[in-house]
Amino acid sequence: MPEAIKLLQVSGLRTEFRTPAGAVQAVRGVSFGLDPGETVGIVGESGSGKSVTALTILRLIKSPPGRISAGSVKFRGIDLLAQDDAYMRSIRGNRISMIFQEPMTSLNPLMTVGDQLAEVMQWHQNLSRREGMNRAIELLRKVQIPSPEKRVRDYPHHMSGGMRQRVMIAIALACDPAILIADEPTTALDVTIQSQIMDLMLGLKDEFGSAVLMITHDLGVIAEMAQRVIVMYAGQVVEAGSVYEIFDEPLHPYTQALLRSVPKLGSRTEKGRHRLQEIPGLVASLINIPDGCAFRERCRFAGPECNGAIELQAAGDGRMVRCIKVA
Ligand SMILES: Nc1ncnc2c1ncn2[C@@H]1O[C@H](COP(=O)(O)OP(=O)(O)O)[C@@H](O)[C@H]1O
Ligand SMILES: [Mg+2]
Repeated sequence: MPEAIKLLQVSGLRTEFRTPAGAVQAVRGVSFGLDPGETVGIVGESGSGKSVTALTILRLIKSPPGRISAGSVKFRGIDLLAQDDAYMRSIRGNRISMIFQEPMTSLNPLMTVGDQLAEVMQWHQNLSRREGMNRAIELLRKVQIPSPEKRVRDYPHHMSGGMRQRVMIAIALACDPAILIADEPTTALDVTIQSQIMDLMLGLKDEFGSAVLMITHDLGVIAEMAQRVIVMYAGQVVEAGSVYEIFDEPLHPYTQALLRSVPKLGSRTEKGRHRLQEIPGLVASLINIPDGCAFRERCRFAGPECNGAIELQAAGDGRMVRCIKVA
């Protein structure tokens, strides 16, 4: 029997950047799948390759200096890395859309939010301007922007950071995408606003039924939203499993360290969501990476056997770990 075609199947993805200091290996052989309607969290410290993975999926890596050097990104069985730009434009913002950390960089400052929303729908769905504007008002209501009939005429700089992120979510959902990639969607916001945006996203996820790739360094967000978790370190997946497995019994020493840096998972304190604290040691350099486990310099279990090539291995049903000490 042929294998079932996945909604999204990322396989062996590699992305690098040319810099004066050498080639930065930002993504080093990342593979994972996404099923319809599920939420997968990608977690890892800053610099682990989460954003580059997301940008590679949508072919938004600027070249030069970037280059996607290997792998495939199959959306419903079609490799996006092998398609032309016109095909990618028909996918982006339509079948797969993305929310970025800083909404101001992706909103056009010279256009009203209503026109920006209407434009996306006119482009992908052939709506008239009037239909587009009515749908824009409807979407602003869905993302709980008060008085949407008035706010459609606002420019982005008239809005607060939280309201702008709501507009970005509305734009991302405008064409009812099969996949929503959210890259640290609340990181740039105040903590109280962060909670409101997360609650909004939780509600909309059920309503729209999109699969979500939730990229974050906030384990609280993962605990609340994701069914499965991918842990990234130095451009590689070091562990993958269900949210329960990862939180109850983390296998990789890096995942264990991440979890130790968060005292009470999933809880919201008066100071806001728990953030990853520093794990001792420097994040591995991504230029001239030596063989072996990238985490070994910081790992309290590391021994000489960690210097050889270490593969991601199955560790139970659907669980993967890249560590020879536990596999
Ligand atoms: N345009 C670029 N030029 C050079 N290096 C880059 C570029 N974009 C990202 N990188 C590097 O790729 C690595 C992964 O970055 P990124 O995916 O943004 O990390 P994360 O999102 O996990 O914080 C980092 O070392 C970063 O410095
Ligand atoms: Mg990032």
